[in-house]
Amino acid sequence: MSYSLALRRDTLSKFSEFEKREPIQTKTETGDLLFNSSPKTVTKGINIVSFKSVIKLYPLATGDFYALKGIDLDIPTGSIFGIIGRSGAGKSSLLRTINRLEKPSSGQVFVGGIDIGGLNEVDLVKLRRRIGMIFQHFNLLSAKTVFENVALPLQVAGVPKADIQQRVSELLALVGLQDKHHTFPKRLSGGQKQRVGIARALATNPEILLCDEATSALDPETTQSILQLLRDINRQLGITIILITHEMSVIREIADQVVVLEQGEVAECGLVWKIFGNPQHEATKALLAPLQHHLPDDLQDRLQTTPPISGPYQQILQLSYNGENQLEPDLLRISQYFQGSSLLHGGVDRIQGHAHGRLLLAVDSNIALPDFKQLTQGNQAIAHHIEVLGYVAGTFHSR
Ligand SMILES: Nc1ncnc2c1ncn2[C@@H]1O[C@H](COP(=O)(O)OP(=O)(O)OP(=O)(O)O)[C@@H](O)[C@H]1O
Ligand SMILES: [Mg+2]
Repeated sequence: MSYSLALRRDTLSKFSEFEKREPIQTKTETGDLLFNSSPKTVTKGINIVSFKSVIKLYPLATGDFYALKGIDLDIPTGSIFGIIGRSGAGKSSLLRTINRLEKPSSGQVFVGGIDIGGLNEVDLVKLRRRIGMIFQHFNLLSAKTVFENVALPLQVAGVPKADIQQRVSELLALVGLQDKHHTFPKRLSGGQKQRVGIARALATNPEILLCDEATSALDPETTQSILQLLRDINRQLGITIILITHEMSVIREIADQVVVLEQGEVAECGLVWKIFGNPQHEATKALLAPLQHHLPDDLQDRLQTTPPISGPYQQILQLSYNGENQLEPDLLRISQYFQGSSLLHGGVDRIQGHAHGRLLLAVDSNIALPDFKQLTQGNQAIAHHIEVLGYVAGTFHSR
């Protein structure tokens, strides 16, 4: 189902209870009180969440287990921030420290400049109203209707009934479920359930939305529509989205920055196009492997590491693009350097406007190869990296 966000934040009602709400009055490290401002005035450029030397250990019968081993990390306000890593790397443990569903064993978590470790119970409740959360399995109450599920956090917050009616209607319109007020969750598709989860998470007008594998239970088409909704919520409502996923395509598609966790530590962190274009850590390389265009079997079978001793052959070249310097695979220029070549395989993705991927060319053996170094530097560059992958006897296309 295609979806487009119909409302902007300023078209949502000036929701009295939430416009009047008290800021958290805890003194901050910097003196800032981000939550003092209404969400639509959220300032970009500062970090809405900062982790300082965060350690989480779980005491087990066999001894202490360190799920987080000293995390230092900043999450910029207004960004879509991805957390990836192998199963058990500590992603959920880290995410859950943001609303203190998990309390760090040591270290500090700052949310909007506030060290949330110091909050009392009352302020913790206030903090949690400013942080929405959605889950893989939606966590809807099956005995309550769609309306009642979304209304619940408002009832808990003591919002007057008439205001709840208006707010829930707006939220259901926002997520495209205006005709499902009285439907029970069991009559909804997975994508619709997640939309209810999103509406519920947005009920208290949060500044941050935490998503723990929010699309993992959905088919690819529904995933796309939920990603579109999340993107719109981020861009149009200014809500920072922090998401865990095992689907690298989700990160590639919507995240601005990504952190890779490995055994409770930060393996690497940065802009998605940079990390995906030039992964440094083994864990990142393993996670990104499914995005690679693998060599077709017939090419793999015929590829030799040395040229055939006799007879014509083709040289198989790989041209790689990692997103740096806005370099694009310019086929005209490539064919000038590799005359008579044919494009065998490959593909180029675009991540945050940067070209990523590789092209495989077959070049006849009677064509002398130019100096690859020159073709990968400065204005001359036609690719970030060029290498000979191997040789194929005869001509690949006419065996
Ligand atoms: N309450 C707990 N008690 C003991 N160990 C725990 C507890 N919660 C998590 N762990 C352990 O901490 C490690 C990190 O768990 P966490 O749930 O954060 O991983 P994850 O990266 O989210 O994994 P997945 O991708 O499978 O969801 C795991 O080894 C897990 O077994
Ligand atoms: Mg998890």
